[in-house]
Amino acid sequence: MPLDTTSYAIPVARSVADLRAVVATWRKEGLSVALVPTMGALHAGHLSLVDLGLTRADRVIVSIFVNPSQFAPHEDLDAYPRTEQADAEKLTGKAHLIFAPNAAEMYPAGFSTTVSLTGVTEPLEGEFRPTHFAGVATVVTKLMLQAMPDIALFGEKDWQQLQVITRMTADLNIPVEIVGGPIMREDDGLAMSSRNVYLTSAERQVAGKLNIILRDAAARVSSGTPIEEAMSDARKRILSEGFSSIDYLEIRHAATLAPFEAGHPDGPARILVATKLGRTRLIDNMPLA
Ligand code: PAF
Repeated sequence: MPLDTTSYAIPVARSVADLRAVVATWRKEGLSVALVPTMGALHAGHLSLVDLGLTRADRVIVSIFVNPSQFAPHEDLDAYPRTEQADAEKLTGKAHLIFAPNAAEMYPAGFSTTVSLTGVTEPLEGEFRPTHFAGVATVVTKLMLQAMPDIALFGEKDWQQLQVITRMTADLNIPVEIVGGPIMREDDGLAMSSRNVYLTSAERQVAGKLNIILRDAAARVSSGTPIEEAMSDARKRILSEGFSSIDYLEIRHAATLAPFEAGHPDGPARILVATKLGRTRLIDNMPLA
């Protein structure tokens, strides 16, 4: 499959061989490489990772692959937005290469390997999406071994995912530095996400309240309110604002995602939430001061 230099103004590698050939030419020139793994439907959050990548490396690759193995059968794999042309336009003049393999390139017949972790994958998202992180860990391992970048960048919006990838990369001695980029928010504080397009306009009015409730709850715990009291009040507030259900709302150790047994944080802490608003599942998180 030749490198696709005609579909868009930015070149697209659709095979691992083409990706590696481009990276090899950069390496011969002594250039450093950043990888921004995405599932496409790019928004300002992804573009901020590209910008961050450009401050750290000479060349930036953005991978676009809606990874089937991280979706459970009942989840939104088919509905997930696929907007390759718009994504390519957003990346033109910013990134240097798109890597957009198809499922057969990533998971050819006979594919039999899964990367799975214990510990940090188990709570929170792991309880509600038990197969999700094995799918993420497997595809991210493959993407890093395919591109062999110096750094790979991931958004802090998926905070637990970032911890999983950081742990996995260290455990497997993968020679890639994992870099987190800050959450990008809409004007009302809603964390940017490719899934926000699922929100109806009425739901969109409600969605921004999540970030405010989170901020208030984090501030209460930082100023001494016991974790369970602040979480219980915040859960009531989320439901009274019109969110349909809450998968979790927790304050956890920022790196391990373990609970704080003492009722108060005694180390770096993060508040994390997953909630449903109509058919849309929203996640968000922030550090405690
Ligand atoms: O965060 C995402 O978009 C995905 O989980 C990732 C890291 C690109 C793996 O498919």
